[in-house]
Amino acid sequence: MQILDGQLVSKATKDELRIQVAQVVAEGKKTPHLAAVLVGNNGASETYVGAKVKACNEIGFKSTLVRLEADISENKLLEVIEGLNSDPDVDGILVQLPLPAHISDEKVINTILPAKDVDGFHPVNVGKMVQGLDSFVAATPHGIMLLLEHYKIDTKGKNAVVIGRSNIVGRPMSILLSQPGNPGNCTVTITHSHTRNLKELCQQADIIVAALGKPEFLTADMVKEGAVVIDVGITRVPDTSKKSGFALKGDVAYGEVAPRCSFITPVPGGVGPMTIAALMKNTFKACQAKW
Ligand code: GUN
Repeated sequence: MQILDGQLVSKATKDELRIQVAQVVAEGKKTPHLAAVLVGNNGASETYVGAKVKACNEIGFKSTLVRLEADISENKLLEVIEGLNSDPDVDGILVQLPLPAHISDEKVINTILPAKDVDGFHPVNVGKMVQGLDSFVAATPHGIMLLLEHYKIDTKGKNAVVIGRSNIVGRPMSILLSQPGNPGNCTVTITHSHTRNLKELCQQADIIVAALGKPEFLTADMVKEGAVVIDVGITRVPDTSKKSGFALKGDVAYGEVAPRCSFITPVPGGVGPMTIAALMKNTFKACQAKW
């Protein structure tokens, strides 16, 4: 069993970007600039946005964190986004999800200019991704593809089961794994809460991507010997032995599943850091388009 070390690959990706940015800035080109919008003070969202801003600083990107009150009106938030759309210095915009219930995710995502949509959530980018055209690909599935690529995992003709059909992970993941190329060329089954024979489907899978948000859902009896297991889950569960008061749990029962795998991602230190690395690559690309 080999661990797919997201921490390591993310660091290598960020190091590469840091060198590239230093080079282009020395040539007098524009410094990539990411604007992150955080509405309210959800603890997990604070952590994720903090990690994104920190990564920008490490690489030498400019970043702007726009903090807004949880009770901001939808119209005001859309105005903030339009301001960032028309700011020529801002290359990438991300609005951290989830948003408060009174705000429509869809309206927010549709307001971000596709050319600045480094999260790859805008329908224009999703549509291009589905057609295999150049686009911004959502950071989590993009990061998983980078991880599979780094470890040269041969995915051609493999049976992949994606658990979860979210717009952020499951759906784009299923498309990317089925596209031509390596990683890619998989036969993909996308599963969800209405899937009847999930255990049997997983037992036949060469690759499983668990992205349903249920701690330790995927157990050893569901996993074929030698499978590649990618754990996207990161749920906070109360744990009084920790200073923070919580522990992070993946969607995979790691202790029992890992010994059966050829490759597996840990939580934390697997997919999470790769999401950040992919977002940084997307931001660089958004800036590059302006040179
Ligand atoms: N919430 C959970 N994952 C993500 C992500 O990749 N981007 C944004 N903006 N919000 C998220």
